[in-house]
Amino acid sequence: MRDFLVAGNWKMNGDSASNTELVAGIIAGAPESDRVKLLICPPFPYLAAVAGQVAGSRVALGAQTVSEHTAGAYTGEVAAPMLRELGCEYVIVGHSERRSLYGESSDAVAAKFKAALAAGLRPILCVGETLAERESGNTEAVIDKQLNAVLAGVGIAEFATAVIAYEPVWAIGTGMTASPEQAQDVHSHIRAALSGHDVDIAASLQILYGGSMKGENAAGLLAMPDIDGGLIGGASLKAADFLAIAEAAAEG
Ligand code: 13P
Repeated sequence: MRDFLVAGNWKMNGDSASNTELVAGIIAGAPESDRVKLLICPPFPYLAAVAGQVAGSRVALGAQTVSEHTAGAYTGEVAAPMLRELGCEYVIVGHSERRSLYGESSDAVAAKFKAALAAGLRPILCVGETLAERESGNTEAVIDKQLNAVLAGVGIAEFATAVIAYEPVWAIGTGMTASPEQAQDVHSHIRAALSGHDVDIAASLQILYGGSMKGENAAGLLAMPDIDGGLIGGASLKAADFLAIAEAAAEG
């Protein structure tokens, strides 16, 4: 049985005061369940402070992106060993906002995935289709292409400690959540595709859903057999909203 991972992607939000309050609220209300792990991914400048605050708690720390390079003349970039040193356990790679706003190619995403693993971080690989791609019947083809670019670059064995997040672009920040059935269809497709490479890794890999997930729709999504948690944007910025999703996982 796979455990649940409930992950908050804060994106470019918060300040020192609001972060301190948010993290304190999450730590205080984290469900006792051993089957539910909570993760928060603050912006880079706050990682060190949040690391200090979550130390010894049930809440893990992650970053929102990472450089594909280990060190060197890459102005403005942050390397995986730096994130590891700051106490990060996870890092999100290939979020659709990185792909669409900053031109990250699937090859770059594969390189970031590899760099994260080399530094001992667990990559959370985001995949997802746009509305036009869904409406033209290309959802699975788009997901396959995004997944295969990473598989070709790193190999299936590298997925043993990774996480995948299915985030339909049309559901991100729009309030238009995928139905549990729509999400389950894609999650089971992803798991089947990975099974073709390694049955055991596919069976144990956590696949998160992301896109307008909130307390009210979490239980339905998390009840699906291939949905192993959430990657949450807007609803991760208030402790009560984030904890409502964590509670749905604990009860699921
Ligand atoms: P929202 O939960 O705000 O739709 O964002 C989802 C997301 O992009 C998480 O990475």
